[in-house]
Amino acid sequence: MEHQKSKKRSIIIDTILLTAIFSIFISIIFITYFDKQTVDKQSNPVVFSGPNSETTETNSPYSHIRIVTDVSNDKYLPFAIQYPTTVHANINEQIVAIVDYEKQQYIKEMQSLHSKYDKNIIGELNISFEMYEFEENYYSFLLQTKRSIPGKKPTHSYNTVVMDNNNGNLISIDKLLNYNEESLKTLSSQIQALILNEDKFSHINQTAIKEQTSAKWGNFERFIIHEDHINFYFNNLVEKQLNEPLNISLNLSLINPLLDDQFQIQMADETVATPVQTEKKLVALTFDDGPHPDVTPLIVSILEKYNAKATFFMLGSRVQYYPDIARHVYESGHEVGNHTWNHPILTKMTEAQILKEYSTTEQAIIQAIGVPSTIFRPPYGATNELVKSVIPSPQFNWTVDTEDWKHRSAEKLLPAVQQAVHKNAIILMHDIHLSTAHGLEAVLQFLQQEGYEFVTVSQMMNAK
Ligand code: NI
Repeated sequence: MEHQKSKKRSIIIDTILLTAIFSIFISIIFITYFDKQTVDKQSNPVVFSGPNSETTETNSPYSHIRIVTDVSNDKYLPFAIQYPTTVHANINEQIVAIVDYEKQQYIKEMQSLHSKYDKNIIGELNISFEMYEFEENYYSFLLQTKRSIPGKKPTHSYNTVVMDNNNGNLISIDKLLNYNEESLKTLSSQIQALILNEDKFSHINQTAIKEQTSAKWGNFERFIIHEDHINFYFNNLVEKQLNEPLNISLNLSLINPLLDDQFQIQMADETVATPVQTEKKLVALTFDDGPHPDVTPLIVSILEKYNAKATFFMLGSRVQYYPDIARHVYESGHEVGNHTWNHPILTKMTEAQILKEYSTTEQAIIQAIGVPSTIFRPPYGATNELVKSVIPSPQFNWTVDTEDWKHRSAEKLLPAVQQAVHKNAIILMHDIHLSTAHGLEAVLQFLQQEGYEFVTVSQMMNAK
């Protein structure tokens, strides 16, 4: 009896347990399904559907990105559209908004032509895309739209969406430059100079170039990040030879200081130079990454007031555009150093690449000032045995980093120097920021009062 009872109880318990397990199981399925439904709904916003179009979805080389194809079956209204869809709803919304806009514009214009004239008028719309990966986490989508409508000039335009795949955040240009207006100005002047100095763009109206590359966030919103490059697209500047919107490629390392921390190349550990041993109280001011058409001459004139000699580590890519500024620096008695052509991380390059960075810059310097440079500084201070063995010039980093590229504040330059200066210091600054020029006079005044003698890096090294 006891036995029977316990068996009965155990059956009841079993049943209760089984029911519980079963309902949990059902709930899990339900929740998963329901969740999936919501996610799907979110991550696939509906593209405006034109007449008779057929949409299919296929895999891409990246598991989390799929390709949507939307092809028209209407022979009077042909279009072929391809765009990516990701696991992030907000990114998909951005992409679909771009595609939708282009598609609606096209359909509207064609339908109006059909109703006004003839149904046999045929146009064409083609949207395709390419995707680029950066550091295995950032994905850039480049959407290319080609549209032709009878009676109108065919159009060709680019749109871009850059995402952080970790969190689905959109990387906009203001985010990329850490919302810093000064960085935007620097980027704008760099790109403007690149376009204006390039022969193959000489057919483009200068006023249009200046307008389209002025320091407005909207001018630089179309970009992709790919390997070590960032490409900017300018839909309103057309390159005649290719008959497509202008696209400008910049080496990421060249604008490294402008970028938000997460995109920045970290400085090498071995950036600190060893101060020389001498009885004198010397200081070597160094200015990197120029010459700059406005900032460099301003710095030279301030140095002159204090009869201070300094060292300018120049980029070949900038010396080629501003040889007169380089010559002015040299003729004012300052030391000219080689800082590579493109500002790359030399420790990631081959021997041939390192040598090319150095020697092309030497050629530009010789052409500008008539003599070779006397000294070398690797970008980011990044060096190793290979770099040291390939570059024939003596190499010098710095002992005091003012971080002028980071704070971009004239008021912060002096405290940075006061805090860290020491006998025979080599101070790092950049002659590409106006804030550095504006803060320089206070620094010179302070160092002079403290009894420092201003010398070039080579003079310091040769001091007894
Ligand atoms: Ni530099």
